[in-house]
Amino acid sequence: KRDGTRGELSRRPVQSLPVPGFTLWLTGLSGAGKSTISCLIAAELEERGHTVDLLDGDVVRTQLSRGLGFTRADRDTNIERIGWVASRLARAGATVVVAAISPYEEARRRARAMTEEFAPFVEVWVSTPVAVCIGRDPKGLYARARTGELVGMTGIDDPYEPPRAPEITVDTAEQLPQQSARQVLEVLEQRGLVPPAAGR
Ligand code: ADX
Repeated sequence: KRDGTRGELSRRPVQSLPVPGFTLWLTGLSGAGKSTISCLIAAELEERGHTVDLLDGDVVRTQLSRGLGFTRADRDTNIERIGWVASRLARAGATVVVAAISPYEEARRRARAMTEEFAPFVEVWVSTPVAVCIGRDPKGLYARARTGELVGMTGIDDPYEPPRAPEITVDTAEQLPQQSARQVLEVLEQRGLVPPAAGR
């Protein structure tokens, strides 16, 4: 029985939405393709009846995590906040798609533990090699890291700890974003987390 003094609700997920939710967590370097792929997946999940929220690092950092930088402590705080919000949304039955570099294994593990109380957690490693990300450099950050103007760029002079046992690994160096999204959706279907597309 809850004592009602700490604003706590039961650990049981709310079962009010048409399709039960889960958390899909995309991790990988800046420029790996996380945002692009997660947008495609989120749109498709909505099509299939999920109540979806997308927590993109770039967006979260303009709102919930505004003011945080890129030290290890700030990145850990950012990921903890995203994990916490994801766990609230997961409890409410939503499907949460997260796209954040989330470079540290321990922070990802904690986010998993928080959300898994309520719904399945699926980690996707967007494994694009740093050389490919440098070649793309959509925001010019790798160029700024090379000249020394930007210090602490993930994959250059700040660590990225690759997931040891991600549920899914996509290789965007070999695939178009649409193909990566399809690969993820197929695994989600196989796991029974996503109903098959209508008409198939
Ligand atoms: S995380 O490390 O805390 O998970 P997050 O995904 O929220 O990072 O934000 C990453 C985005 O911040 C990148 O896509 C990039 O646009 C920007 N950024 C600015 N400085 C850095 C940096 N030093 N390392 C990585 N990304 C950076």
